[in-house]
Amino acid sequence: MQVALKIWRYDSRSGERALREYEVDAPEWVTLLDVLDIIKDRQDGTLAYRKSCRMMICGSCGMRMDGAAVLACKTRMYEIAQSGHIPVISAMGNLPIVRDLVVDMDPFWAKFKAMKPWLQPGYVEPPDGKEHLHTQQEMNAIHKESLCINCGCCVSECNAMESDPEFLGPQALAKGMRFVGDPRDQAEVERLEAYNSENGIWECTRCYFCNERCPKGVDPRDAIAKLGAESVKLGIDRDLGAKHAKWFVTSAKTTGYLRETELVPKTQGVVASIKEMKFAMSLARHGKIPPPFPPHVAADVKESRALYNLVKTQGRDGALGIVQGEHALGRIEFDEAEGAKVTDPEVRPEKPTPHAES
Ligand code: SF4
Ligand code: SF4
Ligand code: FES
Repeated sequence: MQVALKIWRYDSRSGERALREYEVDAPEWVTLLDVLDIIKDRQDGTLAYRKSCRMMICGSCGMRMDGAAVLACKTRMYEIAQSGHIPVISAMGNLPIVRDLVVDMDPFWAKFKAMKPWLQPGYVEPPDGKEHLHTQQEMNAIHKESLCINCGCCVSECNAMESDPEFLGPQALAKGMRFVGDPRDQAEVERLEAYNSENGIWECTRCYFCNERCPKGVDPRDAIAKLGAESVKLGIDRDLGAKHAKWFVTSAKTTGYLRETELVPKTQGVVASIKEMKFAMSLARHGKIPPPFPPHVAADVKESRALYNLVKTQGRDGALGIVQGEHALGRIEFDEAEGAKVTDPEVRPEKPTPHAES
């Protein structure tokens, strides 16, 4: 079959940049990486890109196709070629380009190292001197994070890193969760303190692009949510982001609503609230915010209070709650005609749950 690509060529020494089109004859099974190999072999030996394993293991071949990060060795070309579309290939985002599709990974590795990606000393050796045995529940907390191959596709698409290159970013934080959630690691509090720093977990804008683009199913945004939940659980909540999240929980529990008008005083304090007063009055005059007093209470507020208590009594706070939520969602099948339906008997409790009874 004929496969055509447009590739952004770049030379960091001269600053020259050009979009070049290539077309090659290739077997139907080719991936994007195979097509680049054919171009380099038969048409243009100067094309620069990274590769190694060719099987989604080494993480070398991250690049962008039509503006979204992909692993070149995972991306099949058959359907794209058949559709007649000519994709545009470019280097990953949020990292300096060295040449063509090759980026400078130094900033990426610096953040990776800042996570101290090794077990911190102090863990107890198993009494029999053999391996540490872990429960499935312990593994569930860090299973996805352990799959990361450090390809950088998530970093390429991260909105928060685009506005603040100092943000630790999805890959580094997913790696951090891999160690925070490891029962052998003895530095959970120190790690969470570090990840709650100015450029840490609360800087994430929750755009979920990292989850969408990760080729290994790591779901870095979920890892960041786990770190946030663990931080709040352990009382590491000085950041405005943590206070914000805590206030939303309190607000939902007490009135069944997210009372955003009280968000500023509850999270930023009285002084910040006074500074924002003029803006708040203007919003109120235009009917954009409801009066804070008396607070509006939902008719079924008992339901949200009971749900809060259920989560507490079942110990679902911290990372465990995020994992259980993911598993519950994973068991719900969506049918175009019938909507959501439960297929796994595990999620259909035999007895009514306490919040359903109240
Ligand atoms: S969800 Fe957060 S970490 Fe992930 S890409 Fe968006 S801003 Fe970055
Ligand atoms: S989290 Fe996913 S996208 Fe990000 S570096 Fe790891 S494997 Fe790549
Ligand atoms: S070449 Fe190793 S992940 Fe693509």
